[in-house]
This record gives sequence, structure tokens and C-alpha cells, in this order.
Amino acid sequence: MTNALTFDKPDERDRLDHMAQGTIGQPLSRLEGPAKVSGTALYAAEYALEGCLEGVLVTATIIKGRVTAIDKDAGLAMPGVVAVIDDARMISRSAQGTAGKAPDQNAQDVYYFAQPIALVVAETFEQARDAAKRLHVEYAAEDPETLVLDPEDRRAQWSEQKPKSVHQGDLPHAMAAAAHAVDATYTTEGHISAAMEPHATIAEWDGEALTVHSSLQMLNFNLPELADSVDLPEDKVRIISRYVGGGFGSKLGISPECVAASLAAMALGRPVRVVMSRQQVCQIINRRSETTQRLRLAADPEGRLVGIGHESHATNVPGESFFEPVIQATKFLYGGEHRLLVQNAATIHRMPAGSVRAPGEAVGMNILECAMDELAQATGIDPVELRLRNIPDKHPSDDRPYASRKLAECLQEGAEAFGWDGSDRTPGQRREGEWLVGTGMASAARIHFLGTAEARVSLQPDGTAEVATDISDIGTGHYTIFSQIAGEMLGLDPEDVLVRLGDSSLPAGSGSGGSWGAPTTGSAVFLACEAIRTALCDKLGCGEEDLTLKDGFATYGNQRTALTDLLGGEAITRTGRMESGQTLKDFAAATYGAFFTEVAVNAWTGETRVRRMVGAFGIGRVLNAKTARSQCLGGMVWGIGCALTEGQFFDPVDGHFVNGDLAEYHLPVHADIPEMEVLFVEERDAAASPLQAKGVGELGVCGAGAAIANAIYNATGVRVRDFPITPDKVMAGLPEA
Ligand code: MOS
Repeated sequence: MTNALTFDKPDERDRLDHMAQGTIGQPLSRLEGPAKVSGTALYAAEYALEGCLEGVLVTATIIKGRVTAIDKDAGLAMPGVVAVIDDARMISRSAQGTAGKAPDQNAQDVYYFAQPIALVVAETFEQARDAAKRLHVEYAAEDPETLVLDPEDRRAQWSEQKPKSVHQGDLPHAMAAAAHAVDATYTTEGHISAAMEPHATIAEWDGEALTVHSSLQMLNFNLPELADSVDLPEDKVRIISRYVGGGFGSKLGISPECVAASLAAMALGRPVRVVMSRQQVCQIINRRSETTQRLRLAADPEGRLVGIGHESHATNVPGESFFEPVIQATKFLYGGEHRLLVQNAATIHRMPAGSVRAPGEAVGMNILECAMDELAQATGIDPVELRLRNIPDKHPSDDRPYASRKLAECLQEGAEAFGWDGSDRTPGQRREGEWLVGTGMASAARIHFLGTAEARVSLQPDGTAEVATDISDIGTGHYTIFSQIAGEMLGLDPEDVLVRLGDSSLPAGSGSGGSWGAPTTGSAVFLACEAIRTALCDKLGCGEEDLTLKDGFATYGNQRTALTDLLGGEAITRTGRMESGQTLKDFAAATYGAFFTEVAVNAWTGETRVRRMVGAFGIGRVLNAKTARSQCLGGMVWGIGCALTEGQFFDPVDGHFVNGDLAEYHLPVHADIPEMEVLFVEERDAAASPLQAKGVGELGVCGAGAAIANAIYNATGVRVRDFPITPDKVMAGLPEA
């Protein structure tokens, strides 16, 4: 039996505030934590299967052209090699995985440098790697001189993505008439997802059906992608993805190793494991596009925006449809009736671009919030006050009401926690020895999404419960959060709720992407539990409001019955189905926050050290204070990366990603990360989900880098408009350096 909800109107019941168990929101440690730290939690590549062969991908050494010959015989003659496979189907081109195979593509076509072109399968990994490296491949390559490799190339063909644009009023006129105006162009380098666990798959073929262990975010979508890629009916494919060592967008779709391992297993009748090397992950898996962003802010004498322009340029490889949605939050965050918000796109011959850690806001908010700092400087208004003055009453383009929005509270509570003093923002005033010290802040905003999800919950005769849905836990906390939702609704200790995830044979969850996993699939768990409560009420002959479930007992009136007795040996199983509906069309729903940071910049070298950072966030109901905090901390760490170190660099001659490893593409590590404080403002968002919770996975990065950039300006007076803000760029503006 299914309890289905299409979310067509806000849920004002505050249902989870009126339960007896009191487990929702508690800072529970991850239930699977001990298994993970002790190594007993098996990740995709770690299953030990009898007779498993090892595959290594061979990647193209040209940017564009055709493979004319692969010396398979020589490859097969190498020690241990079992097969050399160059099946066109293994080239999964779409970075978003929406199309597992590209049917209009020839087997030999190469579209980007390092595109997989073959798989070498051998008895051992070393043999496969050796043969893959030595495999002789001939190409008919297009002359790189004829290709556009760089967005700065004049031959790049830019076009406006019209349906995404906002053209409202007359921005140039507003700029000309404004009391204060900012017109600044910023650039950001490309990013990679950089999940710790590389993309990895073990495929098994039993002659009829395919089972793959793979590291994936969206099983419900990945199953049809894989079935389509290997030409099998969907009911002959099963995907298992119980633990995922980070995705950050890079595992939204299936990747080439998944298709290659599957085809090899099907061809050879033995299990085949394919794990990408770190360099392959970097060069094959989608990047976040580099961007150019022109910001125009027109304000009245009090700093109120009358106009706002945000025009972005982002790229992808030919054939891909995704372009970084840079202006996503600019559409709803601040007011101003004259609006020109435009996304420009071009295809160039870089590796595929796709969703990476808060697509859109991660780079868009950073630049919008730097421009707001420039406006604060121009007007002499405290940057916190400037933002408070610019919070609109309703959506500035379509007049929709906002869902719950705690931006003002985040700005105020964050400022207080940090000890913010915005009274004198003259830069370059504080010096400690050779360090210039400054503070900076920025708003955070990230759009809120819901998807479609089913989850099955069984209340077992022994008084424990089981939650089952195919969504994977990519490190965000689903195992724990779902045990808390079911525990709260059914009156059980979360330890007594077994959560089964990451198996496509279970009911289809929403997948983990766009921060919608917990609010969507968590709502499906909630709905299933509501139906179980109804069944218990029927047994007791009471109304739902009169039923109290706590610690395995049902209480109604003066009757207290153990669930085990009430169940009488029979489980109650219900499915919850959650679907987004009218509510997210009627309301502009988003998460909000504010970042505050103090940095020290070396007066001689331009090196920036982030000294401390506070993030205040409004995410609706907090489902687990510890996992939510961890999400925000992670986001703020990315913010340090965005601001200071992360950037992709491409070879101008052959177009390859030059710093494609974790040594040269520097993510913040412990030595880069200061004391950080995360606080949540009290919030219930009835328009966000029946849980009154919103997604939190990506919010922590959306503007965090701007707080650091603004602090660097405050410390030094140097405004670097090219991210990441590396020492050389700061140094260029420092008088002593
Ligand atoms: Mo996300 S970048 O939608 O996993």
C-alpha cells in the first residue's frame, strides 16, 4: 500500500515537532561510521569476486579526430591480457549521464583529450595497466590549430541561452542614473569535483542479467542509462552502490568505466573490475566550466538596488547541453526592478563540463557577493546593512511569494557570532608584523529542489523497523537521517531502524543530487511512516492525533501497549511516494545564509591565510545537527578552495588538463582550514517539503569564497577579480612586494 503525496500546498502541520521520541534534529553520529572507519563498509571496487578480471581504460591522446587503428593483436600478446575491447558503446559522452550512449557517434570518434577509446582486460591490474599504456593506437587527428581550445579564443561562438535570461526594465539607463554604480568583470577558473573515491565499477554477468557494483549518486536514473548503454532491458540490470566516497556531481550519471566493465563482463563471462586512476578521473569526469561574469549594480543614495546585471560566459565540449547556471541565485536574492541576467554559452574543445558542487551558485554567488562588497565600499555602507536593505518582499521578476527565508536572521546572528564590526570598512588598516589583517562577509543562497521518490518502511514483528529505498548515501548522512525520521514517526530508537540503501532492486528514491536527497526521499520515508501510524490507529481504534509512539510502545488514552504485542507477529509495510508539485511553483524556495571571515595576507608574498570563519544558515528544519553541520563545514572548505587555490589549467597546444591530480589541483587540507563555526537559525519551511526541511548539501559553498575575497580586499586594498586569488595576483597590488 502506497501513501502518495504530490506536494501541491505547503504542509503547515509542524508534524515532526509533535512527536514523542525526540530524535529528529539530534546530532547523531553516522550509523555506518564504525563500518566505514574499520574498513568493513565495502565500496564499489572492494567486493572480492571469484575470478575477477581487471580492466584499465585506454584514453585518447588527441583532442579531436578518429581512431584509425588499434593494434589489438599486439595488445593480446602482452602478459596476462585477456581482451582488448573498443566497443563504441563504452564511450558514454554525456557528462550528466543523461544519455549513456550517443547513437549518432562512430566507434572511432574522439571528442576530447583523454576520452576513453578502449579497455584492456587482464588477469591482474598491473598487467592491464602495462598493456593499456603500451597499446598502439593510430589516429587521424584534426589539427589543434583549427580547434577552439580556449574561451578567450576570438573564434569561440557565443550565444545567449535565451530561456534562462531575465530582461526586465532598462539596466543601462538605471546605471547611468544611479547614485552609486558598480560595473566589474570577474573570471573564475574551472573546478573538479575531486571526490576521494575514484570512479569504479565491478560488473558481473550471469549469462542473462548484469549486476554492477558502482559508485553512483542517482541509481534510479543510472539504471536506465546503463541498460540503454549495453542494450539490455532494464529488468536485467541491477546496480549496487551502498557506500559512495563522495560524488559532488561527478557521479550523477554513469561514467565510461561502468559501461566498459559491463561490456567486458558480458563479453568474457567473468566479473570485471575497472577503477579509474586519479589522473583519469580528473581528465575524463566532468569539470565545472571556467566563467567570465560581468556584474552591474545600480543603487540609490541609500544603497538600495534599482538595477542588477549579471552576464556570464561558460563553456562545454560540442555535443553537451549543460552550461553552468551562474545566474541562478541572482534571479531571486536581491531586489532592483531593472534586471539583465544572461547566460552565454559556447562550445570549446575542453573535457566535458557538468554539475560540480553547487552548480551555478558556487561561482555565481561568489561573484555577486564580491560585487556587493564593491557596492558597500562605494556607498560607505556596512556590507551587512547593505544586504539587509536589499532583501526583496517578493520575487523581483515574477512576484511570487518567498517560502520561508531567513537571510536577515543569518546575517544578524552570523555577525553577532563573529563579532562583526562594519562601522569603518577602510581597507588596509590592521597590520600584525608582516601580516595584513582584514575581515569580509558574504550572503549565501542556493535554490531548493524536490524530486520524486519512493521509500518502503516495514514495522517488524520484533518491534524494529526497516527502511528501504535505492538512494545512495554519498557521505551526506542519509542512513542516519532516515533512521531518525522513521524513529521519530514510529517511536523507535534510531538504532532499531535498519536502513537499506544503494541497491536498484529497492524502491526508487530521488537520487542524491542538487541537495534534494534528504528533503525528497526523507519525505517518502515520512509518508510511509504516516501510513504505518494510520494502520496502528486502526488496530487501536484511535485517531492519529491521539496516538503516541515512544520507545517501542503505543500509548492511547490510558492504554500503553508494546508494539510487539500490537503487531501480533505480523509486520506492517507501507510505501511512501513523494512528488514535487505546485508548491515549488507557487513559492520561491531556497536556503540562505551568511559567511564571515578573517584573513591575514602576507605583505611581502601575497599569501593568504584564512584565520577563522563563521557560517550561519537557514535550511528549514534541521534533521540531524551533526550531519548538517558537516555539510556546511565541507561547503566552507570548498569556499577556501574556490577563493584561494582551486583552478584547472589547460595546455594551449593539445588542450589537456595540465594540473589533473590532487597534488597540483590544490584542495584545502588541514593546514589551510582554520577554526570554523557553523550555526543554524531556527526555521521550519512549510513550502519546502512535508518535513519542513530544505536541502543543505551545497549551501555552504555558495558565497563562501566571496567572504574570503572581500576579507583580502579589506586587509590589503587589493581587489583581485580573477579566481582563485593566488599570491601572485595579490602581490601585484601590494606596494611592498
Ligand atoms: Mo550535485 S553537483 O547536483 O551532486
